[in-house]
Amino acid sequence: MERLQKVLAAAGVASRRKCEELIAAGSVSVNGEIVTALGYKVGPEDELAVDGRKIDREVRYVYYLLNKPGGYVTTVSDTHGRPTVMDLVPKEPRVYPVGRLDLDTQGLLLLTNDGELTNALLHPSREVDKVYRAVVAGQVSDVALARLAAGVELEDGMTAPAKVRRLSMTPRQTVMEITIHEGRKRQVKRMFAAFGCRVLALERIGFAFLSLGGLKRGQFRKLTRDEVAGLKRIAEKKRTSPR
Ligand code: URA
Repeated sequence: MERLQKVLAAAGVASRRKCEELIAAGSVSVNGEIVTALGYKVGPEDELAVDGRKIDREVRYVYYLLNKPGGYVTTVSDTHGRPTVMDLVPKEPRVYPVGRLDLDTQGLLLLTNDGELTNALLHPSREVDKVYRAVVAGQVSDVALARLAAGVELEDGMTAPAKVRRLSMTPRQTVMEITIHEGRKRQVKRMFAAFGCRVLALERIGFAFLSLGGLKRGQFRKLTRDEVAGLKRIAEKKRTSPR
C-alpha cells in the first residue's frame, strides 16, 4: 500500500505537492469515493480518478530536454495567453517542467511526467548544479566575482557558494558563467543585482551532467536511457525521509 499522493505523482498526474493540493481540494476519488485525507493509502487494484477522469497507472514516462527560447513562460498554461513551453513539446503524454526559467531566460529545461524524479531533482538536498551564461551590463569587478562565489546576501537569505567565471569583458558588458545548485526565484539576476549589475541576457547551458549540445533554440530531444538513469542516480543519492 502506498500513499495516494505518491501513487498519483508516480502516475504522472503532477508533482507530489500538486497532487496533495488536488486531494485536499476534493478532486481525487478512490473507487468512486472522494478522498481528502493526505495519508490515505491505496493498493495496486484501487481505481483512481482526478476530477472524474480515470488515471491510467500504467504510465509511459517521457523525459525531454528543451532549448527554451525567450518569450515562453514556464507554466502549463498562462493567464495572459502567452506561449508556454508546453507548446514546444508533444501534448501526450502530458509533461511538466522541472523547475522554472524566467520568461526572458533561454536554454536548458527538462520536462517530464515523472513526478517523483521532478520532486527529487528540485529538492535542495540533491544540490543539482545549474550552469548559466549571463551577459551583464558593464564590468563585473574582481571583488564582485569573489563575493558572488562566496555567497551573496539576498532578501531571502545568503546564497550558497557558487562557481563563477568571467568569460569575456569589454567596457560595455561582461559575459559570465555561473554555477549554482539552489533554485530560488530569479536567483542569478538577483545575485548580480546585489552588486548593481543588470543581467541583459541569461541562458541556462547545463543541468546536472546535461548540456544543450547542438540543440537549436525551440527544439527538444528525448533523453537517452543512460541520461535518465543518471538523473535517477542523482535523485536516489540523498534520500530524504519518506513523507
Ligand atoms: N536565475 C534567474 O534569475 N532567472 C532564471 O530564469 C533562472 C535563474
